[in-house]
Amino acid sequence: MDTNLKIKNEIVALLKKHGVKINAEDLREPPEAEMGDLSLPCFVLSKELKKAPEKIAEDLAKEIKPSDLIINIKNIGPYLNFLLDYSKVAEMIFLQIKKERGDYGVNSNGKGIKVMIEYSQPNTHKEFHIGHVRNVAIGSALVNLYRACGYKVIAANYLGDIGAHVAKVLWYMMNYVNETDIGPDKGEFLGQAYVRAVEELNGNPELQAQVQDILKRLEEGKDKDLMFLWQQTRKWSLDAFNKIYDELDIKFNIDFFESVEEKDGKKMLPELMKLDFIKESEGAIIADLEKYKLGVLVLLRADGTSLYGLKDIPLAIKKFKKYKVDKSLYLVDTRQSQYLEQIFKILELMGFKKEMIHVPYEFVELKSGIISSRTGNIVTYEEVRDAAMIKVANETKERHADWDEKKISEASFKIFLAALKFGMIRQAGDKIITFDLEEALKFDGFTGPYLQYTNARLNSILKKADEQGIKISGKFDYRALGANIEKQLIKDLIFYPQIILMTQQKNDPSILAQFLFSICQNFNTFYHELPVLKADENIKLARLVLIKSIRQVLENGLVLLGIPILKEM
Ligand code: ARG
Repeated sequence: MDTNLKIKNEIVALLKKHGVKINAEDLREPPEAEMGDLSLPCFVLSKELKKAPEKIAEDLAKEIKPSDLIINIKNIGPYLNFLLDYSKVAEMIFLQIKKERGDYGVNSNGKGIKVMIEYSQPNTHKEFHIGHVRNVAIGSALVNLYRACGYKVIAANYLGDIGAHVAKVLWYMMNYVNETDIGPDKGEFLGQAYVRAVEELNGNPELQAQVQDILKRLEEGKDKDLMFLWQQTRKWSLDAFNKIYDELDIKFNIDFFESVEEKDGKKMLPELMKLDFIKESEGAIIADLEKYKLGVLVLLRADGTSLYGLKDIPLAIKKFKKYKVDKSLYLVDTRQSQYLEQIFKILELMGFKKEMIHVPYEFVELKSGIISSRTGNIVTYEEVRDAAMIKVANETKERHADWDEKKISEASFKIFLAALKFGMIRQAGDKIITFDLEEALKFDGFTGPYLQYTNARLNSILKKADEQGIKISGKFDYRALGANIEKQLIKDLIFYPQIILMTQQKNDPSILAQFLFSICQNFNTFYHELPVLKADENIKLARLVLIKSIRQVLENGLVLLGIPILKEM
C-alpha cells in the first residue's frame, strides 16, 4: 500500500480511538517543516464538536498519546501537528520501493477508461522544426503518464497531408523544379520548396489561383500525374517524420490523415447542412457560431475545396464511435484554442457531447545566434541535433578517452535527447520557451543532462559499494538517517506517487520534470554534505538504501518523461 496513505491511516485510526472521526484527505503538509510532518486543520471538526478549532487542537494535543509511528503531537493555533518517527517511515517507504521497483508511483485511477491522446500532428510537405519537438515531448510523456495511472491509451498522430500547404509545394514543384534539383534529403527539399513557394505566391493572386486549382484537383483525385506527385512527395515527408520519431523514440498506435478525413467530411456535408447553424454564404459553407460568441468557421470554400475544420468533425466522431474511447485529448498549439472551441461546439450542437479536451502549449523560440538556419527563421530538428552532437561528442570524448567511437556517439545521443526533451517539458505549456541549446546541454542546471548525471552518480556509488562487497539488503537501523536533508529526501520519495497523479490530472508533465529536478538537487546537497562509503557501518548501510531508493524513483520518472538513462557519463 501507498506509504503516504498508510501513515495517514495510522493517524486516522489514532484519532478514532479518541472518538474523533476524520478522513485521510483532511491531513495536510504543514506550511513550515518545524510545525511537524502532517497537520490536521481542526476547522474540519469544529462543527461536529461544537468547539473553536483552537480549543479542539489544544484538547486533542493533551489527550492523544503518541503511537508507534507518531512520536509527538502538538497544537499550534487551530492546527494539530504530528511528528513522525522518520526511521519507521523510512523503513516503510524503502520496503515499498524495493517491492514495487519500476511500478513504484503508478496507480489504477484510470482503470477501465480509454483515452485517445492525439499529438504531434505535423503537416507533410513542411519541415519538422524545433517547435514540433515540444509537442512530441509533452505528448509522449502524457501517453506514458496516463498509462501509469491505469488508463488504456491510444496514442494517435494526425498528419496534415492535404490542404493549401500541400498544394503550394506541388505547384512549386510543377513550375520551378527539375528532377535534378532534388537532393538526397527529401524532407529538407520539401521544406525549402514550401518556403520558396510562399515567397513566390506572396501578393500574386494570379499564381494563388493556380494553387487553388491544384488543391481542387487534388481533392477530386482524378489527375493521375498530380496524384502521383502527391503520393511520392507525401511519402518523402512521412519517411522523414518516421525517421525523427524513431530517433526520438516516439511511438503511435494509430495514424490519422487529413486526406482521409477530408473525404469523410465531404460525405457528412448533407447531414451537416440540415443543422440550422450551418449555412451557405457566398457559395461557401460556414458554421455560424456568433450566437455562442465563437465567430464563424468556414468549412468548405466556394470552389468545393475543404478547410481544416471540415476534417476535424468526422475525426472527432470516429475517435469515439470506431475506437470507443471515453475521452479524447488534443495536444495542440495555443493558437488553435478558439478553433478547437469552435469544433467542440459544432459537435455539441450536433448532439455529440463527449469529453474532448484541448491541451494547449505555447510556441518555441530560438535564442538567435546559436544555431542559424538556411531556411530563414525555421530551425529544424536535424539542425539542432547536428549542432548538439558535435559539441556533446567532443565533451564526452574528453571525459572518456578510453571509450570507442560507438560508445561515445551512443552516449552523446542520449545526452542530446535528454537535453532536448527535458528542455521542452520543464516549463508548463502556458509559457513560451526560448530554447537555448547551450543551456539545455549543461550538466549543472535545470536540464535533462543534470538528471542523467545525478542518476549516473547514484549508480556509481552503488557500484562502488558492490565492488567493496557491501550487501544492501535486509533490515537496517534507519535512525541513522537523522539529518534534515535525509528527511527531505525520504519525504520526496513518499511524495512521488502523488506527483504522478497530479501530473496526469493536470496534463502537465512539467510538474514531474520539476519534481525530479528538485529530488536531484536534494540528493546532491546530501552527497556534498554527508559521507556515504566512508561513514560508519550502520550509517553507511542506511544511506546506501536511501540512495538505491532515490535511484529507483529517478529512473521511474525519467522513463515516464521519455528521457534515456545512462549508467555512466
Ligand atoms: N496539423 C495541424 C497543424 O499543423 C495540427 C492538427 C491538430 N489536430 C487537430 N485534430 N486539428 O496546425
